Amino acid sequence: MGLQQKGMHGAWASRWTFIMAATGSAVGLGNMWKFPYVAGSNGGGAFVLVYLGCILLIGVPVMMAEVLIGRHGRQSPINSMREAVTDSGANTKWQIVGWLGVLAGMLILSFYSVIAGWALDYIFLISSGDLQGINGAAASAKFSELLSDPSRLIMWQSVFMVLCVAVVVGGVKKGLGIAVETLMPLLFVMLLLLLVFSILKGNFSAAVNFLFSFDLDALTWRGVLEAMGQAFFTLSIGMGAIMAYGAYMPQDANIGKTILIVALFDSSVAIISGLIIFSIVFATPGIEPTEGPGLMFISLPVAFGSMPGGLLIGAIFFVLVSIAAWSSAISLLEPCVAWLMEAKNIGRARANIVIAGTAWVLGLGSVFSFNIWADYKVAGFNVFDFLDFLTANIMLPISGLLITLFVGYVLRKDVINVEMEGTSPQLLALWQMTIKYIAPSAIAVVFIMGVYDKFFV
Ligand code: TRP
Repeated sequence: MGLQQKGMHGAWASRWTFIMAATGSAVGLGNMWKFPYVAGSNGGGAFVLVYLGCILLIGVPVMMAEVLIGRHGRQSPINSMREAVTDSGANTKWQIVGWLGVLAGMLILSFYSVIAGWALDYIFLISSGDLQGINGAAASAKFSELLSDPSRLIMWQSVFMVLCVAVVVGGVKKGLGIAVETLMPLLFVMLLLLLVFSILKGNFSAAVNFLFSFDLDALTWRGVLEAMGQAFFTLSIGMGAIMAYGAYMPQDANIGKTILIVALFDSSVAIISGLIIFSIVFATPGIEPTEGPGLMFISLPVAFGSMPGGLLIGAIFFVLVSIAAWSSAISLLEPCVAWLMEAKNIGRARANIVIAGTAWVLGLGSVFSFNIWADYKVAGFNVFDFLDFLTANIMLPISGLLITLFVGYVLRKDVINVEMEGTSPQLLALWQMTIKYIAPSAIAVVFIMGVYDKFFV
């Protein structure tokens, strides 16, 4: 029996395209919107160090495991998991990993496209000049104005979804491949441009100090858990996105090295985004790094609006965020589309319409949770909070944990050996030790503490 398969969806043109695609998936709202405010709320330095530790010790090994299963199966996450399970003669219940992934992907896509819509809206809001010289209260009011307007939110959510479908419908080589090869270099150029701006116009040294001064006292156990959760979300692990992308990876590419590069890119973008945002925040009187989720949408317009040339830079910033969100969202859409194509034997276009349409309808729940359904709560959650919590804090950790256990203890050894060929024996042993012991116990702690914290403290 051959251990190497050929897939029906095609493959990336090269290892480089895979790196761009996986980086595109990883770098998103999680890096630019979430990382700075979570780091800010947790006191900076020590949090950043724990976060980087989690990326290296848990994120990278789990990401490698996902790619391995994907490249072995060469299909959607559901069928690649099925393949790995059958090949290993394992209990068919393990297939739940694939199903959890596709379900989580749909749910994340539904609210992700709503938030990405905010960034699109802000490109135009900032460009209009309306935010010139705005103060904190007025910026806050502008943000509330957006959230309270369902039709405006739905319009941008729809625009964003159409952008995603436009890419995914083109397939792996001509759609996703070309998109990421164009968008990612553009993203890096814009990021560097903003970095230069923040060094020239912002308080860069205060930002460096904030992100890198190691103050252990500022870090709580909860902060450690948040750092770990952030590592999962930012690397796109636990839902099959990276598994699906791994399915299109060239057979001769070294999984360990490639994933290390992706993780390095992803962390760099998070750190650089943090430096940019905090340089600007610290240069603007009256704004605190502990602002929370509003950090980007409320604080930055104030800062940009008060700096010469700031509005242009602000518009570029939100273009950058939108591009990052776009290249992430296509990785949420693709695994589900690939699965539907395999399961129902339908074309890519139809599969896209069904999946994106369903996610769009689900997304309406998030849209309305900011306005007409704001008071409609179940167990303290509105629809958006519920989906965010359910996916990031329950579904991703559970499937991440199952992946480590499956690859660590169940998956046939010769499958691992074929996929990990070319990796030095020491590195292979290190990875296997991490995937068997360190990563699963750490994930279990995050999950238990996180749920305990949420419901019982
Ligand atoms: N990693 C992306 C971000 O940081 C979001 C994302 C894309 C994601 N695909 C995912 C998160 C799969 C979890 C699972 O914004």
